[in-house]
Amino acid sequence: MEKTLAILEGDGIGPEIIREAVKVLGAVERKYGHRFTLQYAPFGAQAYFDEGSPFPEKTRETCDNADVIIKGPVGLALEEMNRIPPEHRPEIGAILPLRKRYDTFANFRPVRLPGKLAHFSPIRPEIIGEGIDILMIRELVGGIYFGAKIEGPATGMRYATDECTYSQEQIRRVAAVAFEEAVKRSCGLFNIHKANVLATSRFWKEVVDDISQAYPQVPYQSLLVDNAAYQLVRNPARLNGVMLLENMQGDILTDQAGGVIGSLGLMPSACIGPKKSYVEAAHGSAPDIAGKNIANPYSMIGSIALMFDRCLNLPDEAEEIWLALFAVFEQGYVTQDLAQDVHARQKTISTTAFGDLVVEHIQARS
Ligand code: NAI
Ligand code: MG
Repeated sequence: MEKTLAILEGDGIGPEIIREAVKVLGAVERKYGHRFTLQYAPFGAQAYFDEGSPFPEKTRETCDNADVIIKGPVGLALEEMNRIPPEHRPEIGAILPLRKRYDTFANFRPVRLPGKLAHFSPIRPEIIGEGIDILMIRELVGGIYFGAKIEGPATGMRYATDECTYSQEQIRRVAAVAFEEAVKRSCGLFNIHKANVLATSRFWKEVVDDISQAYPQVPYQSLLVDNAAYQLVRNPARLNGVMLLENMQGDILTDQAGGVIGSLGLMPSACIGPKKSYVEAAHGSAPDIAGKNIANPYSMIGSIALMFDRCLNLPDEAEEIWLALFAVFEQGYVTQDLAQDVHARQKTISTTAFGDLVVEHIQARS
């Protein structure tokens, strides 16, 4: 297969974890005889300082011309972020416009922790049991993040408003993706919402309840988001299956899920649109550990696996990467975020060494 891939390295640990992801991409490319043309383009806070825009016009063109976009995290530490005018900060000026441009409405965030790796989790192994295998599907281009943002007068009775809107079609299309996924995996679907308080959530539940009728083979359960947050820690394996979430609730619960399995560095993601998709680590740019070669590249390498599976329809290549990632962990290698003193068997390695080991596994497997 020949494809053009846009690479947006982003900020903070972005370039470090992208470098490892590109290494792994190259290993799969060689092994399976594909040809990928990589086009690097500036995106994020550094792009603002260098180019005057966090999503420069030339980057838009590169993305328009690419088959898939591979994006690293963007953003800086809070105090540095204050040097950027609000409309040019990476979330408002780059990520949301990227999502909107390609209408990437379905965000796949797999939360996987095999029982064998239960010690990664801060939760007791007997609670992790056979393992966690949840596919969180988050609506990514609607709701409060995309609603009007209004700030009241600078003096006197000050106020701020964020509008939250969901149309029937916006809910229907992501719910349909989630039910199809549950059919494929022969698992249940948990619909998450806050229908006891929010009008948008009541409507969300009504639309999803309705769609569930068309999928009698999928066990369907609806859960309030606060209860879901509780269950996710109390008994995460109970939620094994597909979880369907609206935009903001999904943002929060997917980070919590990263905590449950041991690190945000274990959270890859794919953002799927009708014509174009992009993949990204689910976390931010981790300025606290940037430039030290200690970040966990699993999230970015796993995003490459999701790209093969979800965007290029090459499931064997995806599986090759997952097998290699878990093989590295099973040999006891971890990056610093997962290192625990109590596990003498563990060997803490750098970001670069982790990527090298994944490549070795891919090369060694016949
Ligand atoms: P963060 O997700 O960057 O980091 C939270 C914590 O997780 C930190 O302690 C960090 O060191 C750790 N962490 C994250 N990824 C890791 C990895 N791969 N390996 C090891 N440890 C990892 O959240 P934070 O610090 O709130 O945000 C930093 C910046 O990222 C901000 O500017 C924020 O706006 C931006 N951001 C960007 C996102 C994106 O590009 N999609 C998403 C979320 C935040
Ligand atoms: Mg987030």
